[in-house]
Amino acid sequence: MSLRMALTKGRLETKTADLLEQMGYGVENLRDKGRALVLPDTKNDIDYVLVKSNDCITYVEHGVADLGVVGKDTLMEGEGDYYEMLDLKIGKCCFICAGLPENNPLEKQGHVTIGTKYPKVARDYFASKNIDVEIIKIDGSVELSPLLGLVDGIVDIMETGNTLRANGLVVFDTCAEISARVIVNKASFKLKKNEVMKVLEDLERAVSENAECNR
Ligand code: PRP
Repeated sequence: MSLRMALTKGRLETKTADLLEQMGYGVENLRDKGRALVLPDTKNDIDYVLVKSNDCITYVEHGVADLGVVGKDTLMEGEGDYYEMLDLKIGKCCFICAGLPENNPLEKQGHVTIGTKYPKVARDYFASKNIDVEIIKIDGSVELSPLLGLVDGIVDIMETGNTLRANGLVVFDTCAEISARVIVNKASFKLKKNEVMKVLEDLERAVSENAECNR
């Protein structure tokens, strides 16, 4: 039985293709995709589709993709019914709480405002600290919001920390570690068990090879 795999485009794209190549899968079409949207593996009965992170969950949840590769950040913020099966240990970054050095929202008394692209993650984080906050949704360059005085702090993704440093912002706390995860449609896991398990085992092997290399 053939499989369809939804891969998140952008930052994770090359790293995911590298991992599949390491497994001996035929990723030529992923590397040289042009405008094509459905990209067949050249060695296995698998079609890849490159999608936005939220759409990855949607396609897997509805079963039009059997498996998906998507960041834990998207899984934490989104909702969906699927199995989260494997940590690929790629695309590592973290959710942080940050702001201007003199204004730590974790210590502020009174009304606290937080800018974020991830309202659910931010709300859950501050709830775990028993701090009541007003969340202001920002769609991009979240770091701008405390600089302009819109918010006391931000909850955002940090990868290298360069954006924060370049804007004079500091990290007050790490909220969660993030990496790419494999999700599986619940029905596919039953109906295509052998095929799905084969891909998961191949992925798992590649992940542990890389862990050995990094020791
Ligand atoms: C993300 C995040 C930070 C930046 C962090 O934004 O929201 O702004 O990357 O990366 P760094 O720690 O390596 O500097 P993205 O580049 O996805 O763009 P956006 O802000 O427009 O969403």
